Amino acid sequence: MPFATPEPASPSPYIVLGVAGGIAAYKAIDVLRRLRDAGYTVAPVLTPDATRFVGPLTFSALASEPVRVGLYEDPHVPIPHTRLGQRADLIVVAPATAHLIARFAMGLADDLLSATLMATNAPVLLCPAMHTEMWEQPAVQENLATLRRRGVLVLEPEEGHLAGGDVGTGRLAEPETIVELVGRIVAGYRGPLTGRRVVITAGGTREPIDPVRVLTNRSSGRQGYALAEVASRLGAEVILITTTDRTLAIDVARRVGIVPVTTADELRVATLDAASTADVVIMAAAVADFTLAPAPNKLKKADGPPTLALTPTPDILTELVRRRSAGQVVVGFAAESTDVVANAEAKLISKGVDLLVVNDVLTPGAGFESDTNEVRLLTRGQAPQEISMRSKEDVALEVLTRVVALLAQGAQ
Ligand code: CTP
Repeated sequence: MPFATPEPASPSPYIVLGVAGGIAAYKAIDVLRRLRDAGYTVAPVLTPDATRFVGPLTFSALASEPVRVGLYEDPHVPIPHTRLGQRADLIVVAPATAHLIARFAMGLADDLLSATLMATNAPVLLCPAMHTEMWEQPAVQENLATLRRRGVLVLEPEEGHLAGGDVGTGRLAEPETIVELVGRIVAGYRGPLTGRRVVITAGGTREPIDPVRVLTNRSSGRQGYALAEVASRLGAEVILITTTDRTLAIDVARRVGIVPVTTADELRVATLDAASTADVVIMAAAVADFTLAPAPNKLKKADGPPTLALTPTPDILTELVRRRSAGQVVVGFAAESTDVVANAEAKLISKGVDLLVVNDVLTPGAGFESDTNEVRLLTRGQAPQEISMRSKEDVALEVLTRVVALLAQGAQ
């Protein structure tokens, strides 16, 4: 049997409405009705468990297309998940259960809905609904954090009546709220940094000694790249000023503007220039504190050990803070190996930054050249926040979540 030809693009935004198996599935009917009233083309996809709570026929009657449940139910469409995933302008899952969230976070694709989530580049909005105990489980929260840093949008559940007469957090967001957010996503909202320009520096600078040798440090640029990827997925326009040529994740590679630099001076010029129009500047780069006038020719061994006449470099972060525009958020990093807390607190004040991300560089598995990091977030007037050992992408999400809060404070 030949594969069916793709359907023509629908004139109105094409929304896949996923429904997982929870008591709130009945509310998805109201969501569907409101999406149709708002003029969207809606294709409902129910998980097999969802059909225990709601009748597929109800969805078929209200939707633009018949409801779909199974991966293998239509012999004319052998790959329904890729067709739905490719055609979707947005996938909304309401309700998203703990099990659906876990499958998505793990990359499992064992039913039509989870396979469609795997087969799309469209934005995804999850609207979780579950009992409070399940909602508060670290497993659920960690899966959601994983999905958030990958750019999945999450509309948090509300407090209210739950199944079985219980009351607490876990109730599906109101259909009206879901449809209002759908409208914003269709209009371009991609996360809490949508419409924000974020400048990030990454890597260790290299100061030439002669045409062969450099003075540098062990920074790999991984944390800066992770910040760039996650900021882009949260909707930001990202400029990454970097001394290293790492590979950005495929989904953001085309969206992140790269400015390659080598020396502290080049990094300074590029950063001050980009910062003039930025909402956020994050100095994750390890900038040389000292530089030198490079010898024009290779220094020869026979001439004996050279004396390097080092001169201090300007502190870019201090300059950024001095020049910053109203409401701009400036984030610094601190690499410490002794008196970590006292040194970092002094640095927070001396640099004048809004947020300082502190690394104890002697902690195994953290800081330079590692895939993981353990940091402490310092802001003025607030208790330090300890971020336990986790991937640099997860650390990036924590840092950017604080940045979002600081932007909101600035906007007040
Ligand atoms: N930084 C900067 N310009 C410099 C040196 C550092 O903007 N010339 C920034 C780094 O990007 C980082 C922060 O300052 O965000 C702190 O860097 P760190 O190396 O921890 O501290 P230093 O200011 O260099 O002080 P020290 O080496 O004495 O700890």
